[in-house]
Amino acid sequence: MKPLQLEKRGIATSRIVMGCMGLGGGWNQNAITADDIKQAHQAVDAALSIGINFFDHADIYTFGKAETVFGQVLKERKDLRENIFIQSKCGIRFEDGPGRPGRYDFSSDYIRSSVDGILERLGVEFIDFLLLHRPDPLMEPEEVAEVIYELKESGKVRHFGVSNMSAAQIKLLQSSSNEPFIINQMEMSLAKLDWLETGVLVNHPERMNSNFPEETLEYCRLENIQIQAWGSLAQGLFSGRHVDGQTDSIKETAQLVKDLADKKQTSPEAILLAWLMRHPAGIQPILGTTRPERIQKCGEAMKITLTREEWYSLFVSSRGRRLP
Ligand SMILES: NC(=O)c1ccc[n+]([C@@H]2O[C@H](COP(=O)([O-])OP(=O)(O)OC[C@H]3O[C@@H](n4cnc5c(N)ncnc54)[C@H](OP(=O)(O)O)[C@@H]3O)[C@@H](O)[C@H]2O)c1
Repeated sequence: MKPLQLEKRGIATSRIVMGCMGLGGGWNQNAITADDIKQAHQAVDAALSIGINFFDHADIYTFGKAETVFGQVLKERKDLRENIFIQSKCGIRFEDGPGRPGRYDFSSDYIRSSVDGILERLGVEFIDFLLLHRPDPLMEPEEVAEVIYELKESGKVRHFGVSNMSAAQIKLLQSSSNEPFIINQMEMSLAKLDWLETGVLVNHPERMNSNFPEETLEYCRLENIQIQAWGSLAQGLFSGRHVDGQTDSIKETAQLVKDLADKKQTSPEAILLAWLMRHPAGIQPILGTTRPERIQKCGEAMKITLTREEWYSLFVSSRGRRLP
């Protein structure tokens, strides 16, 4: 298990993050129920029990309800806020009327109002990390820098980062801001391999099929930018979800994950996370499950270090063919 880039910056968060997209009762307009709040308490309890102190939100998750139920949990557990890190994201807007399509919005007015909404739903005075959720083609780095400065000065946000961005896009934003962007959250897992394929297929014709942005992994490592992996459990593909109808390589990889888990007396979930955490970039996986029993299984990852051979066996099996 490699150290986090955040640790190198003196920010001591847990090695794994709890993703909160599954809280709030689903992507609908139904009112929050007592069961939704109970589910959030149980997920938080399970996360804390395995040492997680870092919770990932976004203003859009379940249309704001994920943050609202989390806010209720914080209200009912007065000592929780000071012991955890809260991250949220902004910049994605849903379609909201005729001529107003789903879009990205890094305008200062939108970022400012989004942060106010986040703080209100969570019932907190500040969040620890704010990420810009997806690159807005109309972003103006100077405008983003100004609002970030304002949010930092006002104490509403402690640190900033991005999500789903290439090295070039981070550099562009950074060029106007004295405040560092210290996190980049990307989809990375044993199922979504392009973050590795881009590197191993240099000078190889198959590289054309790999769309992970050029130099991003290396840039983040060089600049101590924390890479967070969303989709880290591959939505259960290798850890128990039915694989009927899937490709042979998926079925074989699921079996390999199980065999390794049995050999190490741990869970398949732990193998998947340990595989990400073995990478020297110090990847911080984000869990998408809210089930206490699955969260517990994920916690075992912190006790495992895969050998080079085990790590490559999983990689080669999942890519479905030998390395060049
Ligand atoms: N930055 C971004 O653009 C972005 C995008 C998406 C997500 N995120 C963040 O990343 C977090 C994780 O993302 P994710 O939810 O895509 O990742 P994930 O952890 O790979 O997937 C979680 C989903 O897989 C299901 N699952 C896991 N193991 C399973 C199994 N063995 N059998 C059946 N189902 C299984 C979970 O169901 P159960 O709940 O039933 O266990 C849950 O619905 C989110 O909560 C959010 O915080 C960020």
